[in-house]
Amino acid sequence: MDFSNFWVPLLILAALGCCSQDSMLLSDKIKGIIGKNVTFKTTITSTTDFLSITWHFNKDKVVPIITFIPSTNTKNINEKYASRISYNTTTFELQLGPLMKEDEGEYILSTVNLNADQLTGQIHLEVLEPVTDVKISSNLPEAIEFNSTVILTCTAKGSFTYRWLNGSDPLVADGTHTKLNPPIGNELTITEVRRTDLRGPIVCIAENALESGRSAPFNLTVSYGPEKIAVTQTPTDSFLKKGSNLTLSCSADSDPPAQLRWMFNGAELLQNAIVTIPNLEEKHSGNYSCVAYNAKTNRNIVSTVASVTVLEALSGTNISSSTSLLISGNSTVNLTCSAAVGKAESVEWLKGSTPLTPSPRVIFSADKKSLTIVQVGKEDAGEYKCQMKNKVNIDEASYKMVINYGPENVKLDGKKDVKFEEDVKISCSAESVPPSTYTWKLNNTVMNFSQAIYVIEKAKVTDSGTYTCKAINPITKMEKEMTFKLAVTEVGAVDEGLSGGAIAGIVIAVLVAVIIIACIIKRKRKSGTE
Ligand SMILES: *[C@@H]1O[C@H](CO)[C@@H](O)[C@H](O)[C@H]1NC(C)=O
Ligand SMILES: *[C@@H]1O[C@H](CO)[C@@H](O)[C@H](O)[C@H]1NC(C)=O
Ligand SMILES: *[C@@H]1O[C@H](CO)[C@@H](O)[C@H](O)[C@H]1NC(C)=O
Ligand SMILES: *[C@@H]1O[C@H](CO)[C@@H](O)[C@H](O)[C@H]1NC(C)=O
Ligand SMILES: *[C@@H]1O[C@H](CO)[C@@H](O)[C@H](O)[C@H]1NC(C)=O
Ligand SMILES: *[C@@H]1O[C@H](CO)[C@@H](O)[C@H](O)[C@H]1NC(C)=O
Ligand SMILES: *[C@@H]1O[C@H](CO)[C@@H](O)[C@H](O)[C@H]1NC(C)=O
Ligand SMILES: *[C@@H]1O[C@H](CO)[C@@H](O)[C@H](O)[C@H]1NC(C)=O
Ligand SMILES: *[C@@H]1O[C@H](CO)[C@@H](O)[C@H](O)[C@H]1NC(C)=O
Ligand SMILES: *[C@@H]1O[C@H](CO)[C@@H](O)[C@H](O)[C@H]1NC(C)=O
Ligand SMILES: *[C@@H]1O[C@H](CO)[C@@H](O)[C@H](O)[C@H]1NC(C)=O
Ligand SMILES: *[C@@H]1O[C@H](CO)[C@@H](O)[C@H](O)[C@H]1NC(C)=O
Repeated sequence: MDFSNFWVPLLILAALGCCSQDSMLLSDKIKGIIGKNVTFKTTITSTTDFLSITWHFNKDKVVPIITFIPSTNTKNINEKYASRISYNTTTFELQLGPLMKEDEGEYILSTVNLNADQLTGQIHLEVLEPVTDVKISSNLPEAIEFNSTVILTCTAKGSFTYRWLNGSDPLVADGTHTKLNPPIGNELTITEVRRTDLRGPIVCIAENALESGRSAPFNLTVSYGPEKIAVTQTPTDSFLKKGSNLTLSCSADSDPPAQLRWMFNGAELLQNAIVTIPNLEEKHSGNYSCVAYNAKTNRNIVSTVASVTVLEALSGTNISSSTSLLISGNSTVNLTCSAAVGKAESVEWLKGSTPLTPSPRVIFSADKKSLTIVQVGKEDAGEYKCQMKNKVNIDEASYKMVINYGPENVKLDGKKDVKFEEDVKISCSAESVPPSTYTWKLNNTVMNFSQAIYVIEKAKVTDSGTYTCKAINPITKMEKEMTFKLAVTEVGAVDEGLSGGAIAGIVIAVLVAVIIIACIIKRKRKSGTE
């Protein structure tokens, strides 16, 4: 039958709008994508309940797609759609595809039931373009931290809205630092970009209700720095020994890595992160600083200054004395301390381990390198130390001071009264530096003897006499003598134990006693006879 004639009454019906719009369809809106299929679902459970069922397309004019007469199982298909539709004979749901942009519009389902009631349903198809070629582009090929405003634009083919991801999380624009252009949101503006902003990586998602497309992960290197410049000095001391080695190293946080340069007293020394100066000399003393430069950000920073002073270490320190021979009470000594190498900044003198302090007798030169002790005494003898100090080391020398004195306190010791043939030892001693020599005399006659101890074996009476010992200091030439009287008694000459006087006393006492007793007896006899 003639297709156009067949449609006339239905068209009129539709135009009249007489038909009740029951829920013939599951929804009134549907979206499809170019190239894909769309299915218009119905609420019809069985087509046999109807006399006829028709799908139309209404855009500018109403165009029939398919009419189905269930009773005769006849279908009338618009040939323009023939290859693009399929339908379900039970539910009469219609699948259309592949979709074209022109398919967008109203689709009308018109039915006539067995009671000749007309029912229609209407659904709007929106045909979306597929999402392809999602891309992020940047206004800048590279950015500089805090200086650049980066604008990322997301482009895609198709119909969609945009979403952004920062790493795996949704990107949240704060409205000041990061902004998204409303309402589409395909432009992300980052002002004063920070180094971490675009490391995401950033992904743009273009999507519509049916599909979405992701851009390739986008990242942009944001140059930054240099900052946090740090200098290490090895060794860390600011005063260094001549001949030692100095290593200076520099680092800075920067992308791209900073160019590092070392400056010495304001002039460039080396274009390197590490400077090693072996075998330091005085001329290496000065101010070292490191400069970091980032060519991309065009920023420079300068480190703190490392001030270094190279000094010669003190060595060969020695003490020299003005006088080699010192005599107590008579000599004045001048000790001078000097270092063969290096310059001392301070000098310290010690005697033993006690620091020497100035006194009227102990005088230091202005530079403390000379020590004068006026009129030395024996108590000044001992070990003197001079310590030379500078910023890099201490060197010391010692000097043993000998004070010649004496003899003093000369003594002669020994037994004074000895018996015949007894051994006798007479010792002579004196305090003296250096030790004294001795000469002896007996009764003013010089003896052929020069030892400290004079020994007489088996003394004879002729050994008695006055012994004189003279102590002589060979350096000071001073001498002192002492005398000692020795008496040797002859054998049997004296009763052992009692002296002559004592014996005489006893004899007299006994005689007196005898006389008294005799007198008493005589008197008693006289009185007895009367
Ligand atoms: C889309 O519809 C066409 C024609 O009806 C059909 O040949 C094709 O298989 C369908 N594709 C899908 C994915 O359903
Ligand atoms: C038609 O739809 C019904 C119900 O959804 C289903 O059971 C049946 O298999 C469909 N027929 C065809 C040919 O797709
Ligand atoms: C992305 O996230 C990082 C933290 O994970 C943040 O520092 C950065 O600013 C974010 N980027 C943007 C553009 O918001
Ligand atoms: C960032 O992009 C560069 C190329 O532009 C690539 O080589 C690098 O792997 C990317 N990094 C990340 C984390 O995606
Ligand atoms: C200094 O460096 C030289 C090599 O340049 C090395 O031979 C020497 O041992 C170093 N001196 C010190 C104190 O480290
Ligand atoms: C090193 O720096 C100090 C102060 O920072 C300055 O007084 C001195 O003159 C400088 N030395 C040289 C050799 O430039
Ligand atoms: C950073 O911005 C300032 C002005 O805002 C400009 O003068 C300077 O040249 C910029 N730096 C770089 C490296 O582009
Ligand atoms: C140190 O001085 C003494 C004299 O006081 C001298 O004999 C000695 O050689 C000197 N030593 C050096 C290393 O100069
Ligand atoms: C002490 O010094 C004086 C003069 O310097 C000298 O004449 C005298 O002999 C000295 N005395 C001793 C004990 O050396
Ligand atoms: C000690 O000796 C030094 C160097 O020989 C000299 O400069 C100084 O004047 C002397 N001091 C005295 C008190 O003799
Ligand atoms: C002194 O005594 C020594 C031995 O002790 C002897 O050799 C020397 O001849 C003596 N000298 C005199 C002058 O008697
Ligand atoms: C020393 O003199 C005393 C008396 O002055 C005398 O008894 C003695 O024998 C003398 N000794 C010698 C060895 O001459």
